[in-house]
Amino acid sequence: MVKKELNIAVLGFGTVGAGVVKMLLRNAELIAGRCGKKLSLKYIVDLDLKRDRGIKVPDGVLTADALQAVNDPEVNVVVEVIGGVEPAKKFIETALRNKKYVVTSNKEIIAKYGLELRELAVRNKVNILFEASAGGGIPIINALAGALAGNNIRRIYGIVNGTTNYILTRMHEAGAGFAEALKEAQALGYAEADPTNDVDGCDVAYKLSILAGLAFDSHFNYEDIYREGIRRVSAVDIALAREFGYVLKLLAVGVAHGGDQVELRVHPVMVPQSHPLAAVNDAFNAVFVEGDCVGETMFYGRGAGELPTASAVVGDLIDIALHYGLDGVNPALHFQPARKKLVPVGETYSKYFIRLKVRDETGVLAAVSRVCSDHQVGIKTVQQKDASGIETELVIITHAVKEAALQAAVGQISALGQVVEVSSVIRAGL
Ligand code: HSE
Repeated sequence: MVKKELNIAVLGFGTVGAGVVKMLLRNAELIAGRCGKKLSLKYIVDLDLKRDRGIKVPDGVLTADALQAVNDPEVNVVVEVIGGVEPAKKFIETALRNKKYVVTSNKEIIAKYGLELRELAVRNKVNILFEASAGGGIPIINALAGALAGNNIRRIYGIVNGTTNYILTRMHEAGAGFAEALKEAQALGYAEADPTNDVDGCDVAYKLSILAGLAFDSHFNYEDIYREGIRRVSAVDIALAREFGYVLKLLAVGVAHGGDQVELRVHPVMVPQSHPLAAVNDAFNAVFVEGDCVGETMFYGRGAGELPTASAVVGDLIDIALHYGLDGVNPALHFQPARKKLVPVGETYSKYFIRLKVRDETGVLAAVSRVCSDHQVGIKTVQQKDASGIETELVIITHAVKEAALQAAVGQISALGQVVEVSSVIRAGL
């Protein structure tokens, strides 16, 4: 029987939940017209029933009882926007077992448990959709699973964390140090009180494992993804990046190698100023996808926030409404078993920016160059900064080099008598 109305339960009335409710109320007529079904809010669940979200919610829908909502036979779709693993995962599982479709924005749950939740959904002839879990309002997941699905994806890379992009943008614009820019991001509500997930790159690793899973047809364990955050980035590195024609960004990078090998890494990169990613500022996200037929594509937009994230959630709700009662499962969105291997980071190639503090002595440059040449590390440019007569700073930009060789060279350089410290080693160029 084709239903004319779907009952929705929204679990979590925080930023994203409020956005979903606002959007469903504000655009109700337009949405019903486009999917041929009314999307009715049956429950909005949150432990805090008092806080004013500036929304007039329909009478009787607000409750603190999530289990009542996920067990109610009249609910057709559960929207999980609580965040974190528990209790969100338990509610998702109960909803799927009760044959309810699920829409989630929860990248941690999808990255860690997506495969098993998808299997649970298939067993129950429903589906779990997760467009909002990576790239916020950018429809990158639907693009990978749908419009681009006929391509062999060669590379997928970009900026998928708004908080760190905001921090790095402020460091570039205001010359601020990391701690100062982080404080500013926290005051504006971009960064959480405990910023670990964002600044150490965990959030990016979750999102990369989700995007790479779709792009390269394999499950990837997010913990196996090579990851460096932005805590060690200094105002000096940012200023030098600018001087050398780069903008520093935290990137997620996925590259298909031949056979069953894929390269996945998360780390800061000095992006050439001429590259479109260099112009992606503040809390915006952008993802590049290169397919064998489509060539290069770029997806840009707001990666977080109330209504942008709600836009992705509501898009999934409309997708479900369009397919509801037909075959139960939208075949376009799928998780794959782990069938590809990650290339060890030591085997990957990048260009590097290296900043050294050295003694201002004759022969230091020759000694550093010798180590580089012994390890096949080609130097593209080298510049000496601020010679004081006692110490000076050397900035080296290398050609593309194997990570293992670079690390061996850096280890040997730091042991040279004339080298006071290796201040920074940052990938430079794409
Ligand atoms: N903390 C995330 C970000 C939220 O800053 O991008 C959206 O996933």
